[in-house]
Amino acid sequence: MNKIEISTVIYSGENALDRLSHFENHNVFIVADPFIIKSKMIELIEKQLKKGNNKWTSFSDILPDPPIENVVAGVEEIAQFEPDLIIAIGGGSAIDAAKAMKEFASRIYKYEDLPLIAIPTTSGTGSEVTSFSVITDSEKGVKYPLVSNSLLPEEAILDTNLVKTVPKQITADTGLDTLTHAIEAYVAKNANDFSDAFAEKAIHLVFENLVDAYNDGENALAREKMHHASTMAGIAFNIAGLGINHSIAHSCGAKFKISHGRLNAILMPSVIAFNAGIQGNTNIDLKPAAAKYAQLSRLLGLPATNNASGTRSLIKEIKRLKSNLNIEESFKEFHVEYTASILEEIAQLSLQDSCTTTNPTHTETENIITILRELM
Ligand SMILES: NC(=O)c1ccc[n+]([C@@H]2O[C@H](COP(=O)([O-])OP(=O)(O)OC[C@H]3O[C@@H](n4cnc5c(N)ncnc54)[C@H](O)[C@@H]3O)[C@@H](O)[C@H]2O)c1
Ligand SMILES: [Zn+2]
Repeated sequence: MNKIEISTVIYSGENALDRLSHFENHNVFIVADPFIIKSKMIELIEKQLKKGNNKWTSFSDILPDPPIENVVAGVEEIAQFEPDLIIAIGGGSAIDAAKAMKEFASRIYKYEDLPLIAIPTTSGTGSEVTSFSVITDSEKGVKYPLVSNSLLPEEAILDTNLVKTVPKQITADTGLDTLTHAIEAYVAKNANDFSDAFAEKAIHLVFENLVDAYNDGENALAREKMHHASTMAGIAFNIAGLGINHSIAHSCGAKFKISHGRLNAILMPSVIAFNAGIQGNTNIDLKPAAAKYAQLSRLLGLPATNNASGTRSLIKEIKRLKSNLNIEESFKEFHVEYTASILEEIAQLSLQDSCTTTNPTHTETENIITILRELM
């Protein structure tokens, strides 16, 4: 039996931020990416909240790949301020931090009703519509994806104007994170017609718009399409789950200082080849996932006379997209430290990661080590 729940209410399009003016007399705890304060984008939120006579305070000590310490500090501030509404505005890091703060504050202080409104300012994670929050234990060098329905934001506001300032490199990284979400969801064990529909649309939108958004950040249409793609990919993987691309990215993310999206992008061609059971021009042991990858190639108009050639076409197209976005093909350029024991640890952590449970192809420690060694 499949349960398909898409419960976050989405406001999008011109003036989507007006939604905030409908809240009246609330105590609002705003979790904001530091960029949102520095760039004064926060004033757009404050202007709307003022209309409804709301009170607010802002927490903006958010680091990328938010560490546990960010969450603990936020929970303490929530206890003091006693909000009845949380607004998270920023990239996936700010939204994930807010989701974890809400979760722990609600559990510890027994808040029954503390709605969360997520306003993404990057087009990548889809966190505004997912029940995931990824928190980092910097001391242990481990990233933990928390998964619970209680982490789902009640509302998401998609305003394209907020993403126009995203720099080129972050546009590329986050856009490829979206592509990874959609492709992983498409082949995931729990994929179904509903998640496929969102994943297919998101994949089309990425291939059609990411390079344009990268080349010209002011291209409103490309930005809008990428913003929608990110949320759609989020809906897809929230239904279907992800796979080892994300498990390995989480495990490497706390060890190598490379952004989440870029890690996914570097890993993606090798992970697809492994999941499909192909290597170069050889079909080692073709796996069922190859049929899904080939199906994607057909949808994208790429050559796919059989499942193996279709998978190869998809990999080639992803490599072409990455090259247009100046993304590295391997970890070589990053000079990361990778002793045998570090690779073993990354592989073990990846297998324990919750995303591995929905990967389409059975994975062992040595498979992950092989994928990583090929990219080192
Ligand atoms: N919860 C989920 O479902 C989910 C899914 C995928 C990834 N993640 C997590 O999300 C995090 C990554 O999020 P991200 O890729 O959005 O990056 P991010 O939130 O870390 O932001 C990256 C950088 O972009 C800046 N930034 C944000 N908005 C901007 C804007 N409008 N203009 C200019 N700069 C801006 C930030 O200040 C930061 O320096 C990782 O921790 C990852 O593990 C979560
Ligand atoms: Zn991701």
